[in-house]
Formats: sequence, C-alpha cells, structure tokens
Amino acid sequence: MSKPVDLSIEFCGKRFPNPFLLSSSPVSNTAEMVERAFEHGFGGVVYKSLGSPHVEIVHPSPRMQGYDYGPARLAGLQNVEQTSDRPLQDNLADIAYLKKRWPDRVVIASIMGFAAPEWKELAIAAEGAGADMLELNFSCPHMCVEGAGMKVGQSFHLVQQFTELVRRQVKVPILAKLTSNVADISEPALYAKKGGADAITAINSVRALTEVGLDDFVPRPNIFGKGALSGFTGPGIKPIGLRCIAELAGNKELGLPLSGCGGIETWVDAAEYLLCGASTLQMTTGVIHYGYRIVEDMIEGLSDFLAAKGLGSVGELVGKALPQMCGVGEFDVSRQGAAAYDLDRCVGCGQCYIVCQDAGSGTLGWDSAKRRPVPDEQRCYSCMICSFVCPVSGPPAITYKEIRGKKPFIAAGRSKR
Ligand SMILES: Cc1cc2nc3c(=O)[nH]c(=O)nc-3n(C[C@H](O)[C@H](O)[C@H](O)COP(=O)(O)O)c2cc1C
Repeated sequence: MSKPVDLSIEFCGKRFPNPFLLSSSPVSNTAEMVERAFEHGFGGVVYKSLGSPHVEIVHPSPRMQGYDYGPARLAGLQNVEQTSDRPLQDNLADIAYLKKRWPDRVVIASIMGFAAPEWKELAIAAEGAGADMLELNFSCPHMCVEGAGMKVGQSFHLVQQFTELVRRQVKVPILAKLTSNVADISEPALYAKKGGADAITAINSVRALTEVGLDDFVPRPNIFGKGALSGFTGPGIKPIGLRCIAELAGNKELGLPLSGCGGIETWVDAAEYLLCGASTLQMTTGVIHYGYRIVEDMIEGLSDFLAAKGLGSVGELVGKALPQMCGVGEFDVSRQGAAAYDLDRCVGCGQCYIVCQDAGSGTLGWDSAKRRPVPDEQRCYSCMICSFVCPVSGPPAITYKEIRGKKPFIAAGRSKR
C-alpha cells in the first residue's frame, strides 16, 4: 500500500472527506445505521427519502428479489420499496443528530412529495433539521403515480416546477435525482438547472422486470400472487449509470456537478464514474451485498490508484475520460487490425472457431489434427468475439493487434447455394 492520498473533494461548495456516499435507500434508513457507515469511512449520506407525512407508507412484502446470473449472486436487485415508513419527526431528529455528531460528514436529505405543498413542507423541514443539501427524488420507478417519482422525471416541466418551488424555500444546495427511463437524460437535467438545481444525481433504480416464476407465472418479487414493473439496481445497471453520467458531463450547456450512482461496488467502478465526470459517488446494492465495510476497500483502492497515476487528488480524475469519448461516426476507420492468438497457451477447445463461424467473419480456420485455430489476419474483421469466449485463464490468450495498411474486410456471402 502506498502513502494514502487525500481523497477529499469539493462538491456544491462543501468539502467531502471522500467521494463515497450511501445513496438514499434502506442502507441510509436511520441515524444508527448511517453512524456505523460513517465509522467505516463513508464521506457522507443521502438519507432515505422522506415522504409525505400525510400518506401512510406500508411496504409490500416481500419487498426485494435478488437477481443472480449464473454463479454471480446479486448481479442485480429488484425492489418495490417506497419512501421511508418512519415518522417524519423521527427522521428529522436522526438527521439533526448525525449533523451534530459527525460535523465533518455531509448529510443530504432526500425528499419526495406527491404535490407542491408537500415538496415545500419537506424541504423546509429537512433544511431546518440541519441537512447540508437536499436531493429531490424525481426518479423512483415504482412510486410513480401521476406527478410523483419517475413520472416527474419524465415530465420535464414538473422537474423545473418542483425544483423552483424547493429553491424558493431553502438556501442549501439542491441535487435533482433523475431517472434513466427517458430518451435523453440531459433534457430533464437542463429543466432542473432552469429550476435552480445546483447538481444532478444519476441514476435511480431502472424500471425493469428481472424474473417471472415458471411455477406460478408471477413476476418477481412475488407479492402474494402479484408482481410489478419496479426498480432494478446493482452491477447490472452500471453501464446505464455510467452512460448517463458521461452524457450529462459532456453536455456543455448543463455544466453542473454530478453525483454518480448505479452499480458502484469496487474502487474500479468508482474510478470509472469519476473519469466519466461524477465528483461524488453513491451506492446501495454493494452495501446490501457486502455491508458498510465495502467502503474501506474503495478508499484504499482509489488512493493507491491515484498514487500509482501520480495524481494528488480525486478532483484530478474527474472527467478525464471525456476528451477520449466521441460519436461512433468519428472513429478513425482507416486503421484496422485482427485477433492475435497465443497458440502456445491455447487449450484446443475450439470455441473461437465455432463462434467465428456462427457469429463472426467465418475466416478463422481450424487445424483438427493439432486442435488449434488457423488465423487469417487479412480477412479477420476484428469483432473479437473469439477472445470473449476463450476459456484460457490468466492474461488473455487472444488479443487485438493493429495491422498497418490492412484494408477493412467485408464478409462475402457464405450460402451453400
Ligand atoms: C431497496 C431500495 C430502496 C431504495 N429507495 C430509494 C429511495 O427511497 N430514494 C431514492 O432516491 N432512491 C432509492 N433507491 C435507489 C438507490 O438510491 C440507488 O439510486 C439505486 O439503488 C442504484 O444504486 P446501486 O446500484 O448502488 O444500488 C432505492 C434502492 C433500493 C435497492
């Protein structure tokens, strides 16, 4: 381990001891829980969404369903959880306690109203309790009756209207938490900016359906014979979260700080979100899977990574991948390459050959006596699928290499006719 790098970062005028936050969810449900997360090193919290004190919250039971993919447990998580079911006064007292007891950590209160008076009431109450910032939940994919949750994030004028309303009530910075369930996430972000938001959080749970029971035909989680389209989280949504952060960070007109969320479980995920433009990072499913101690590895890993790169602060990483990002039409297609095979390490399984025939250029030959692929560099069209199915462990046995002067190869028709 190298000498620890200071991971503190400025976000909306506040210094966070590190960029790692609990996101608003059951992992940030009470002061007792958040306090334990702080003891493990979390730099801040987005406290579980405070909902209308005039609506009784009863969570469906069971409220979550793990999504395994092959041997990977919790590759995702489906949930139908609502806003906090605790009395508003208890949550406000917890926020006030956390601020008093942990002055160096940042406490962000998430709020979600069903109509204008509630947004106003919750914003005033949360600021009054001492929250450093407010996060407006415009993005819950299942508590989304007309005018609430994700339906706000999809009705851009409501994003602006509720942000403006909250802006008029409070002085603390406001984050608008947006849904990825829109065609272009920059649009609601720009409306949030017009309404006075200081930052954007992306993303909330993705509206999804992960599993249907084959015994009972009920979508999961099975809530006494019924299932619903609801929120999907965890590693499975990281590519969507990263995409949203990169889109928002690349939007010149927006220019707001970003809090990244969605599938962050390792320091590598964290570094990728930072590189794409997020400057704080939120997580839930990783904590559900591994506990609050997950942050200890993240702190150590990110610090070591910065040291290895010769960087002195997290801020130096933020957005560093953006100059390398371009439109698909902007690639230099005059440069071409091919798959290169380390035949000494080949185990002779033939998977590369099969996949090349059935889904690739069909140009990879097969020496059945030696049980080895026979590459054709000039005709290989470098889809690289052979490398994805190669089972050789350790450093990849099939890699990409550029071949100078190679012309793009167009697969000929291969009909038996
Ligand atoms: C059980 C559960 C409850 C959640 N409740 C809220 C909530 O009250 N407010 C909110 O803004 N997001 C809520 N979320 C969404 C998370 O804050 C986060 O945006 C999402 O889980 C993606 O991050 P992850 O992949 O690290 O879990 C909830 C997520 C889960 C799994």
